[in-house]
Amino acid sequence: MLVLGIETSCDETGVALYDNERGLLADALYSQIAVHAEYGGVVPELASRDHVRKALPLIREVLAEASCEPGMIDGIAYTAGPGLVGALMVGASLARGLALGWGIPALGIHHMEGHLLAPMLEEDKPAYPFVALLVSGGHTQLVRVDGIGLYRQLGESLDDAAGEAFDKVAKMLGEPYPGGPHVARLAEQGRAGRFKFPRPMVNRPGLDFSFSGLKTFTLNTLEDHGGRDGADAQTRADIAWAFQDAVIDTLIIKCRRALQQEQLHTLVIAGGVSANLQLREQLRTALDKIEARVFYPAPRYCTDNGAMIAYAGCQRLLQGDRDVTETRVRPRWPMQELGPPGRAAEAG
Ligand code: KG4
Ligand code: ZN
Repeated sequence: MLVLGIETSCDETGVALYDNERGLLADALYSQIAVHAEYGGVVPELASRDHVRKALPLIREVLAEASCEPGMIDGIAYTAGPGLVGALMVGASLARGLALGWGIPALGIHHMEGHLLAPMLEEDKPAYPFVALLVSGGHTQLVRVDGIGLYRQLGESLDDAAGEAFDKVAKMLGEPYPGGPHVARLAEQGRAGRFKFPRPMVNRPGLDFSFSGLKTFTLNTLEDHGGRDGADAQTRADIAWAFQDAVIDTLIIKCRRALQQEQLHTLVIAGGVSANLQLREQLRTALDKIEARVFYPAPRYCTDNGAMIAYAGCQRLLQGDRDVTETRVRPRWPMQELGPPGRAAEAG
């Protein structure tokens, strides 16, 4: 089954073609970073307009790349939520319109399910059941995964998502949006040991996270050393290092705890923050010690992309899932509401 996947939930337009027998055939991505950079964050109206501008050209691009005619496509998957409502509507309307015109089924996919299944695009993929750490700009969640659609949340952030904390700390340090990669780059110049930041919530039982206190601690440390404009470059780098180290340590402690609690030995980490190389390296070392293994998507598929939506869509369409009501998108959509293929709750 050949599936066209369309992702437009935030600031990346992603389109891909995935075939269950041949794998990923083509994948195109357009990032709107330059559009939003001067505003220091995503401007929803500009995001929607840019998706309108780029989605169709990207669809033509992937069809050409895979030497594929529309008649060869068996289904269309699009991100139906969570995300920005206007941005979601662009992808949903386009997908539903094309599916109607081509006489094939369409299916709305949960964005975080896409992230969760992204490691399945790799040759060396995890086997179910596993624990997944989903760390993006909007979510920080630990989930037990027994199969597609079989998700049980084990813990989540009670305030800021990890990626959001990276973005806010970047702003404090005068770094551009989106901040994660910039804080990581700054941290490479940072020295260990000058600052020690707290590890939020690790002394409490349970698997929830909290990053807003750490963000305030970072701001106070920066203010004590001259603030954004007064602190010297080395101090800014040392602060970035200490912040990143605290986030990574906290994530690792909770991942180990989740694996122990569920008596599992496989961890999947996905979402934008999983592109962080320090996190990847340190997690691998930490899990080696408890004879557990960690699987990641390739860096390109850590952040938003069309391939993960095409993959998730293909698995569900193969088992008969289809949109049945009118086009609906869900800006908020708890992942636990999903069911396994064949019994899935629609976005509406
Ligand atoms: O999954 P994603 O592309 O979009 C959402 O669904 O939110 O994640 C974007 C988030 C942003 O907060 C960005 O700063 C963060 O992922 N991010 C990183 C890195 N690359 C992206 N955070 C830390 N280190 C990175 N290398
Ligand atoms: Zn995402």
